[in-house]
Amino acid sequence: MAEQFGMQYGTSTRSVKAVASPAVPGAPVAPYPLPAATFHLPTADDESAAGDYYGRASNPTWRQVESALAQLEGAVSALVFGSGMAAVTATLRVLAAPGSVLVVPADGYYQVRAYATECLVPQGVKVLQAGAGEMCEAAGQADVVLAETPTNPGLDVVDLHRLGLICRGRGARLIVDNTTATPLAQQPLALGADLVVASATKALSGHSDLLAGYVAGSQPDLLAAVERERLLSGPILGAFEAWLLLRSLGSAGLRYERQCQNAQSLATMLDGHHAVRSVRYPGLPGDTSYPVAAGQMQRFGSLVAAELADADAVAGLLSAAELVVSSTSFGGIHTSADRRARWGDDVAAGFVRFSLGIEDTDDLLTDIDRALTTAAR
Ligand SMILES: Cc1ncc(COP(=O)(O)O)c(C=O)c1O
Repeated sequence: MAEQFGMQYGTSTRSVKAVASPAVPGAPVAPYPLPAATFHLPTADDESAAGDYYGRASNPTWRQVESALAQLEGAVSALVFGSGMAAVTATLRVLAAPGSVLVVPADGYYQVRAYATECLVPQGVKVLQAGAGEMCEAAGQADVVLAETPTNPGLDVVDLHRLGLICRGRGARLIVDNTTATPLAQQPLALGADLVVASATKALSGHSDLLAGYVAGSQPDLLAAVERERLLSGPILGAFEAWLLLRSLGSAGLRYERQCQNAQSLATMLDGHHAVRSVRYPGLPGDTSYPVAAGQMQRFGSLVAAELADADAVAGLLSAAELVVSSTSFGGIHTSADRRARWGDDVAAGFVRFSLGIEDTDDLLTDIDRALTTAAR
C-alpha cells in the first residue's frame, strides 16, 4: 500500500514525483494552466459527452493537481476547492445530515466552529464541541467527527489511530483537517480517517499568493457525494490558481523540511527564554503532545505557539523583529506571527502563533532572540 502511493520516498522526492507529467514525447515536462469555462460537445445529443463539458464540473488542470494531492495524502482521489473553508463546509454538508450529531474541534480553526454553529445547527444538526483531549470521548456519541491535528492555534495533538477505532466501532464518519500538519508530515487516511479536508492556502502552496482547499479519500461513494456537492454549490478553484498550486507543490517538500527545521529550532530556543512564559510545539520532547505526535507524524510542523507577557510584548516583538512579518494565515516562505486573541481565539492576550518560513535558521533565531529581548525591556 505504501509503495502504491510512493510513501517509501522522502518528502521532497514525493513532492516532485506527485507533479510529474506523463512521459509522452513532445509533451511539456512542466504543467500548464488550461482555463476553460466550456468545452466542445458532440454535435448529436444522443452521443454522451464523455470528458470535460463545463468548468464548474471539471478542468484538466484540476485533475493534475488532484492527482498530486491524492498521491501525497495516500488517497485514491482528491477534489480541489476554491479555499480550505469551501472544502470543509462542502464535506460537512454532505456528511452531517439533519438530526445527526457532529463533533467539531473546540480549540481548532475558529471559522469551522462558526460555520457549524451558524449554518448547520439551524439545519437540525446537533453540534458538539470538543478539545483535542476530549475528542475520543465525544466521538462516543457522534455520527460525524471532524478532528484537527495539530490544532490551530494551540498545537495540541489528537490520537488519530485511537479516534479512528472509536469512530469505526460505532459507524461514525471521521474527517480529519490536515492543514497544519500537511500530507508531508501526516497521512490521516492511513490512521483511520474516512476523508481528509485541508486548506492548501498554507504550506502546500507556500507563497501566500492564493487560496485553495481539497478533500481526499479512498471511498468512491464519499468522494462522489462531495464532488456532486461541489458541482451543485460551485465553490470551485480557478484554473490559474490550480496551476500555481501545482507549480508550488513540486518544491513543497523542500520548503516544508526547512520550515519544520526552523520551527524545531525556534521552539527549542523559546523554551526557557526569559521573555517567554510557555511554548507549545509537538516536536519538543517535553511537550504534552510529543508522545502521540512522535507516533503519527513524520515531522512536527512549521507552527510554534508561545505565550509572552501580554499584548504589548507581542506588539514589541513584531516591531523589533526584522525577519518576522505581522500577518495572519501561515505556511508561507516568510516567517510570520499572529497574536491570536485578536481573532477571538480562547488564548491569553500574549499568545502568539509563529509560522516559520524558509529563511536561514541562525538568522531567524538571532533576529527573534534580539527582538524578544528588546521588547521585554
Ligand atoms: C486548520 C484550518 N482549516 C481550514 C482553514 C480554512 O482555510 P482557507 O483559509 O483556505 O479557507 C484554515 C485557515 O486558516 C485552517 O487553519
